[in-house]
Amino acid sequence: MKFLITGGAGFMGSNFIRYLINNYPEFQVVNLDKLTYAGNLENLKDIENNPRYEFVKGDIADEKMVDKVMKKGIDQIINFAAETHVDRSILGAKSFIMTDVFGTYTLLEAARKYGVKRYIQVSTDEVFGSTEDGEFTEETAFEPNSPYSASKAGGDHMVRAYWKTFGLPTIVTHSCNFYGPYQYPEKLIPLFITNLVEGRKVPVYGDGLNIREWIYVPDYCQALDTIIQKGEDGEVYNIGTGERKTNIEITRLVLEIMGLDEAMIEYVKDRPGHDRRYAVNSEKLRRLGWEPEHSFEQALKETIEWYREHQDWWKKLKSGEYLKYYKQQYNR
Ligand code: TYD
Repeated sequence: MKFLITGGAGFMGSNFIRYLINNYPEFQVVNLDKLTYAGNLENLKDIENNPRYEFVKGDIADEKMVDKVMKKGIDQIINFAAETHVDRSILGAKSFIMTDVFGTYTLLEAARKYGVKRYIQVSTDEVFGSTEDGEFTEETAFEPNSPYSASKAGGDHMVRAYWKTFGLPTIVTHSCNFYGPYQYPEKLIPLFITNLVEGRKVPVYGDGLNIREWIYVPDYCQALDTIIQKGEDGEVYNIGTGERKTNIEITRLVLEIMGLDEAMIEYVKDRPGHDRRYAVNSEKLRRLGWEPEHSFEQALKETIEWYREHQDWWKKLKSGEYLKYYKQQYNR
């Protein structure tokens, strides 16, 4: 089985490639990644010489490049490639539309042309919008509120259309928020941990009471594996843990684990259009036999430990373009 994994140099793609290569001796992986700011081949240093792994630098929105990669004999496509950061999408949405919508279309066309066994779309619970006290099911209507989630929703709708119109065997997954090793330090958890290691304050948006549901990367990899093994074509699966936390709860827990106090918190201007609460109903996936193995607190401790031990990895990332972004985002 040969997989094309797009965005494999990013946080989730690289973790999943490592999982597939290490757990399935018969699987081969081609990693197509554009190496934008968030793509980093160091994430896969430990497997870069594995004969079952191949890296190709390229853009999923580049039709010729995608065609060239498909000629390698791809059985399944898993599309991790995406612009994912809400705050960056507020600063400018074009790259989100190009990658998350047009890039998805390009891959779907290639999947159709080459008759792949399956196309899996990695997506987010954010396409459902915000829910005060309910849960998103696979049937919940899309109500995206940020340019990022609107772009992902556009891509996901294209996947549905290719299943309905052309019978392309597809699966769409909507996951809650991820955390764990190799996450780029612009997202809440790695940003806060790395700021604190550097002795800087952590910028909490608004009142800090927005709620997100969280999944640790190893649990996510098992969830997606379960979907690959047991999921059905044309279906949609939510991936969630039930670990729903306010941002300030997470901030206080990080401070406590790191032995710091609340003086390190800085309340800053809220994100425009900031979704209040995400909550995922993942019963459909659980019926396939998956459940998360890690508690939030233990996994957060492990994540903090990883960032403490891999300062060379993230200190390099917190320079250059990142500093420009940080200034634009936080010194408004
Ligand atoms: P984020 O990690 O950007 O993920 P998403 O917006 O896709 O859920 O943000 C998670 C939550 O943390 C969200 O409610 C916004 C909040 N947040 C802050 O309070 N401060 C920050 O600096 C960042 C990046 C996020």
